[in-house]
This record gives sequence, structure tokens and C-alpha cells, in this order.
Amino acid sequence: MSHPILFRDVYTVSGSHLDVLVHQGKIVEISPHGESTHSSTALSGVEVIEGEGGLLSPPFVDAHFHLDATLSLGRPRLNRSGTLFEGIQIWAEQKPMLTEEDVYQRAKELLHWAIARGTLAMRTHVDTGDRELRAARALIKLRAEVAPYFDLQIVAFPQDGYLRHPRGVELLTEALDLGVDVVGGIPHFERTTAAGRESVALLCRLAADRGLRVDMHCDETDDPQSRHIETLAEQTHRFGLQGRVTASHVTSLHSAPHDFAAKLIPLLAESEIHVVANPLINITLQGRRDSYPKRRGMTRVDELMAGGVNVSFGHDCVMDPWYALGSADMLEVAQMGLHVGQLTSLAGMRDCYRAVTQNPAKALGLSEGFSGERLTLNAPANLILLDAKDPIEAIRLRATRRVVMSRGHILSRAPKSAATLTLPDEESRCVTFRT
Ligand code: FE2
Repeated sequence: MSHPILFRDVYTVSGSHLDVLVHQGKIVEISPHGESTHSSTALSGVEVIEGEGGLLSPPFVDAHFHLDATLSLGRPRLNRSGTLFEGIQIWAEQKPMLTEEDVYQRAKELLHWAIARGTLAMRTHVDTGDRELRAARALIKLRAEVAPYFDLQIVAFPQDGYLRHPRGVELLTEALDLGVDVVGGIPHFERTTAAGRESVALLCRLAADRGLRVDMHCDETDDPQSRHIETLAEQTHRFGLQGRVTASHVTSLHSAPHDFAAKLIPLLAESEIHVVANPLINITLQGRRDSYPKRRGMTRVDELMAGGVNVSFGHDCVMDPWYALGSADMLEVAQMGLHVGQLTSLAGMRDCYRAVTQNPAKALGLSEGFSGERLTLNAPANLILLDAKDPIEAIRLRATRRVVMSRGHILSRAPKSAATLTLPDEESRCVTFRT
């Protein structure tokens, strides 16, 4: 068992100035800064981490990722059009070459990046179109290995269509039998709108029968007529899946008429559907057929939040057929979501931080140790120490994650970020970009 650790001089997301003691995997003492009681000093071998007024936050949760495709950029070629559909084509060309070991190694590398950036839970989709389900097997193996310190959920994702792929139904079922956690879907990629609707109904029934959650790629298009989200809300209600269904992307809602959005949002709130926007990917893949002005493609995050819908931001891709950039940094995701969604008010910026912490924790059904802005006594010590005073500064600076702790164990440490400035005729000074 690891030694006790005291985080001294830290701020919580809600602004409390505290000292926080962690022991045997849990938060065992929370006291106002400088008023630490006897228990922290009574313990021997306490490591003191000086927070220096930094932010002690719950970890980041990535609600939407594709670990099977990550870090495969350029295999076998680059995406020239920049569209979702060329990305799907490139992935189809790459798929026959995949091995279980290759997927496992790339996914593991990406998880290491994510952990160093303060992410301790992720929902990844896995393409179930491969006849041997190599990617699913690789990710199931990885999920078991990281389980002591990282929550990895896997979604069975029929990339080439649940009904459109000749063995789509059978392979998705097989993936669930192997132990994949969540039922996925891609209704806008089925052959017709009617087939898309049918796929939503079948997949919701399957999830209800097996007691599983649902997370569908839903209406990832600029087509204002793509409205599978409406069917998803209806089927959620029909099968009593309230609170257990996520609609990912929903980019069509960006382009849909206001009257439709006004009708839809209360339906989503009623069905307790979680929505995940993927700002880095939506802003680059969508609007590709537009001249100027070009649509942004991200769903209506502000209107959804105002309507009581739980909205998260996901990373979606890092260096794969759809996106050439990224470093598994949820603060980069939050910053892009903030800009694209024009969420620039103080409340809006704080909402963007929640969209990469407590909101995805709720969507994934994670329990204590991931949610809430206040630290809870005796909760698992899943904590990150950021070189920033509050969530807004964390997003502005994409602040250094000085310490990443999972269940009381420190998994990653990083030095504070600073530059030494030496100007002519002036003394050298340290620049930290903090206020
Ligand atoms: Fe995706």
C-alpha cells in the first residue's frame, strides 16, 4: 500500500482553499488550508505535495474515443478531402491489415498519453465490422489490464452499418458476447433513413434485453434532415432506457431548423439522453461541402445545456484517418468546445470544464471518485493537481497536470510550466502565464 500523501495549499473546482490528505486509496482528511488537524501529522512517512495555490480537481473523463484507430495516421494513406466519409474509406482499407497486437500496442500508448494528461476514464468505440473481432479482443484485454487504475468502457460500434454490413447484426452480437460493455450504432450510415430508424429500434431493444447502455454515433452529418436523434429519444422511452443512452456527435442539429431544435431538446431532456459533442473533430470534418460561410458542425451545446440535457465533450480521435493532430488532452478539447460553441461567459467557461469532468462521468455511469465539484471524505482518491488556480485558468493555459492520482496512487508527475525571459537591459524573470 502506498504512503500517505498531503496536498497542501490547493483549491477545489468550487473554490475552497484546502489541505487534503490521501491514505490507503481514499481521501481521509479535508481541512481549510493551514488548519490541518492531528491525523495528517500523526501519520508517519507523509509525502507533502505543495500545491502552491493550484487546482485539485476530479480527473478528466473522455466520453468518446476510438482506440482501435488511434495513432494509425497515414496507414495506408492520408485523408485528402478531410471528410468523415473519406476517413471511413481509409479505415476500411486499413482494417484487413490490423492485428490484435497492433491495436493493443497503439491503444495502450494512447492511454498512457491520456493518463499523463489527467484522464482516468474513457469510453472507446470499437469497430465490430472485422470478421475476427481482432480490435474488440485487443481492447477487452487492455481493459482488464488497466482496470486497477483506469476505467475503460468499450462500445460495440458497427462502423459500416448494423444493417448495411452483410454480417453487422451477427458481429455486433458476438462482440457483446465477448464482453464489450455498450451497444453502439450509426443510423445515418445505413442505406436509407428507414433502415437507420430500424437500426435504432433494434439496437435499443438489444440493449434493453441485455441490460446494457447505448451510445450511438447519431446524425454525424451536415444534413438538416437527418433526424435519427428523434427516433433514439422515442426508443429510449419505449424501452425504459432513460439515463442509459448517449447520442454522440448529433452535428446535424447545428444545421437543423430552429423549430425542430425547440421541439427536440425537451424530448431529449425527458428521455434523459446524454449528448456528446466532439469539438476538435466536428469543426474539422463538418462543413466540408460548404463554400463561405462554412458551418461549424458542432451540435447546439448551449441550447442543449440550457434545456437540461447532460452534454459532454469527447476527444474522438488522435492521429487517425479522421484527424491528424491531438495529444489526448481533454483541456484542448474543452478549449476548442468553448471557442466553437462561443461559450465565453464565466458560466459557459465553467460548463466547458464540467463537460470534460462530471458530465461525462454521469454519462458513463461512473460513481464516486469521478463526479462533483466538492471533494468527498472517504471517496476514492482520483485526483489531478493542475498548475492553474481555477477551471477557467486551466482551460486558458491547458495547464500542466502536475500530479495525476488514481485511487491514491500517483501515476504521473510533471514539472510546472515556465519560461525564463531575458530581455536586453532587464533582469531575467520567470514567466508562468498565470495571473
Ligand atoms: Fe466517433
